[in-house]
Amino acid sequence: MGARKGIILAGGTGSRLFPITGAVSKQLMPIYDKPMIYFPLSVLMLTGIREVAVITTPEDQPQFRRLLGDGAQWGLSLTYVTQPSPDGLAQAYLLAEDFLDGAPSAMVLGDNIFFGHGLPDLLAAADAKDAGGTVFGYRVSDPERYGVVAMDASGAAVDIVEKPAKPPSNYAVTGLYFLDASASERARSITPSERGELEITTLLQSYLREGALSVQQMGRGYAWLDTGTHGSLLDAGNFVRTLQSRQGLQAGCPEEIAFEQGWIDADALRALAMRYAKTDYGTYLLGLLAES
Ligand code: TTP
Repeated sequence: MGARKGIILAGGTGSRLFPITGAVSKQLMPIYDKPMIYFPLSVLMLTGIREVAVITTPEDQPQFRRLLGDGAQWGLSLTYVTQPSPDGLAQAYLLAEDFLDGAPSAMVLGDNIFFGHGLPDLLAAADAKDAGGTVFGYRVSDPERYGVVAMDASGAAVDIVEKPAKPPSNYAVTGLYFLDASASERARSITPSERGELEITTLLQSYLREGALSVQQMGRGYAWLDTGTHGSLLDAGNFVRTLQSRQGLQAGCPEEIAFEQGWIDADALRALAMRYAKTDYGTYLLGLLAES
């Protein structure tokens, strides 16, 4: 078994964000000072993952390539895969099967933003599990919009149900999935749901049935932000702005994580910082050098 590889699922239609997503992918929209995809990418980097497949629509791929390149600037290796039509989250494991080449994976949805002090530990625990899978349950006020975890009296997950009219709990499954090497094979036996999608919920149920899925709670100390509508997109940007200006620390900063992980050296970080010399972002990166 090889090292865990990453997948960012960044296709989709973004129809709830029309007209702003009429010509640009949702995952390239700004979250205050940086493109949305920096956040899910940062989650994979914090896990220690350096090989990542970015799945996009065919039309949007050139812009993602322009923004992220081959990843070498951050010590990463990025592979681009297209999803011809948005046929569901579980399809990612079919599209990325050659890329994964038998490795376990961490997949994150390109529009999911996670923030929290304990995140690296949570990610490390999920990464350490070789067999089966790990997903994260997060308490939300509107569970009917998500895949929802049903639990028994002891709090153990017994089922995951997609967008239930009567949610069995308030715990939604977030868009971050650590699955073992069997994910692609399992995805192949899924048939499309009534809405015509290969549902991630169905894939997760196949693990759950075998007692092979761990559902970790992501507690109240974490932020899991929605970016799918105009209001929530703006709210996420304001959240990041408030946090960053109060703390003087960046959230979702690939350059910083690459430097901390030892994947790029000080000279490389300086060169990246100089590109952004006119921004607070560039000043921040230079500050990291001064502190190191
Ligand atoms: P959704 O929010 O379900 O869909 P969407 O992003 O197309 O937006 P809308 O509902 O406004 O039309 O998707 C969640 C994430 O998963 C998002 O980052 C897009 C991605 N996605 C794909 O890449 N491929 C898919 O087939 C689907 C369903 C989603």
